[in-house]
Amino acid sequence: MTTQRTATLTLDGKANEFPILSGTIGPGVIDIRTLYGKTGTFTFDPGFMSTAACKSSITYIDGDKGELLYRGYPIEQLAEHCNFLETCYLLKNGELPNSAQYADWEMRVKSHTMVHEQLTRFFQGFRRDAHPMAVLVGVVGALSAFYHDSLDINNPEHRLVAAIRLIAKMPTIVAMTYKYSMGEPFMYPRNNLDYSANFMHMMFGTPCEEYKPNPVLVKALDRILILHADHEQNASTSTVRLSGSSGANPFACIAAGIACLWGPAHGGANEACLKMLEEIGDVSRVGEYIKRSKDKNDSFKLMGFGHRVYKNFDPRAKLMRETCHDVLNELGLHDDRLFKLALALEKIALEDDFFIEKKLYPNVDFYSGIVQRALGIPVPMFTGIFALARTIGWIAQWHEMIGDPEQKIGRPRQLYTGAAPRSVTPLGKRT
Ligand code: SDX
Repeated sequence: MTTQRTATLTLDGKANEFPILSGTIGPGVIDIRTLYGKTGTFTFDPGFMSTAACKSSITYIDGDKGELLYRGYPIEQLAEHCNFLETCYLLKNGELPNSAQYADWEMRVKSHTMVHEQLTRFFQGFRRDAHPMAVLVGVVGALSAFYHDSLDINNPEHRLVAAIRLIAKMPTIVAMTYKYSMGEPFMYPRNNLDYSANFMHMMFGTPCEEYKPNPVLVKALDRILILHADHEQNASTSTVRLSGSSGANPFACIAAGIACLWGPAHGGANEACLKMLEEIGDVSRVGEYIKRSKDKNDSFKLMGFGHRVYKNFDPRAKLMRETCHDVLNELGLHDDRLFKLALALEKIALEDDFFIEKKLYPNVDFYSGIVQRALGIPVPMFTGIFALARTIGWIAQWHEMIGDPEQKIGRPRQLYTGAAPRSVTPLGKRT
């Protein structure tokens, strides 16, 4: 019989006990749901440095060991043995599919790859040079204006079809966003192609000739999608969960996640990292930028470095570096100057006391921009690819939240530091 572990908080001389909950692996949590009722005080944790917002069985990160598990499987093994669509099935359903389950899953996704023809009109309202993430927020949000046949989020079948539609349509919409920016015609999906090959076809194919995706590049893209698929309660996933907690339309919740991912501190870091490498330009200037990143008075941060959870190497960065190497070799770009600059920057930073002390290592965004640039994806599209990959993570987390019997609408409290109560002076009497 295991005894319930508890934590005692003594406030104004009164001891208050709170249960400690344990998970499968990783840190336990102090269940403080009764804290305010017992003590009249809140906890204070802006940025959620020490706060678990939910229970989840989807993804687990060990920041000290540099481990990442999707439903218990190490990311390294998934990247080696699975494709992205298999990983989508795993994240959504909790188990890897067998052949029959995979065939059914792939058939269901392929039957939803086209978007409503009227959705194409939403693009016309954007400038051609609009940032792709602005377009994605708008067009994915617009999906919530369709599909009134399946909007009951408490109906498991409606939730499933919304999930399938998003997994299936994000590649089509992301590719349309790119085509619109180029002034090229939208390419319809080709269901005889696998998921990532179909995306490359819609991105780089034209109606004028047969597009033959390079299998090495397709595999590289598929791995990029696997590495970005989910990552516990990061900012954009927490955004999706919070917006979904009110019962909002799932497509609108995913649009909120895209908006949050856009930020340079989050998914926008891959675009910012490549711009940073272009700005540094040469290994001889690396020291100048590392010096700047240590200067508290300089807002410059080494993009692609550091992480709230990883205090060791981000396992995705290692796999991304390998993918980078494979793609550049395949394309005969092994002398790519930005890749060589990134390798030099990584080496110098990892030997620097500041970065060692602060445990700042390359994260998933450090190499992903270089790989995507080599694949022919323009810099402003990098975060759109991240959004394409993370859609399955957002959906799986949203689905878990909706199905959680303990789920309540998210409503944080605050420490009020504003004016004390006071009376209004009528306008005519105000000095
Ligand atoms: C993603 O949450 C996730 O899981 C996100 C993500 C996912 O898959 O969803 O992994 C994707 O967003 C990866 C991160 C991409 N962002 C960047 O590469 C931007 C550059 N990195 C930083 O902005 C920063 O590292 C963050 C935003 C990623 C993390 O910020 P935190 O939580 O404030 O980092 P920290 O508390 O661990 O920082 C420790 C210290 C701080 O200094 P002090 O307050 O202790 O003095 O290190 C400093 C930070 O200011 N620091 C950096 C730095 N990153 C952190 N200093 C210089 N250069 C950096 N890159």
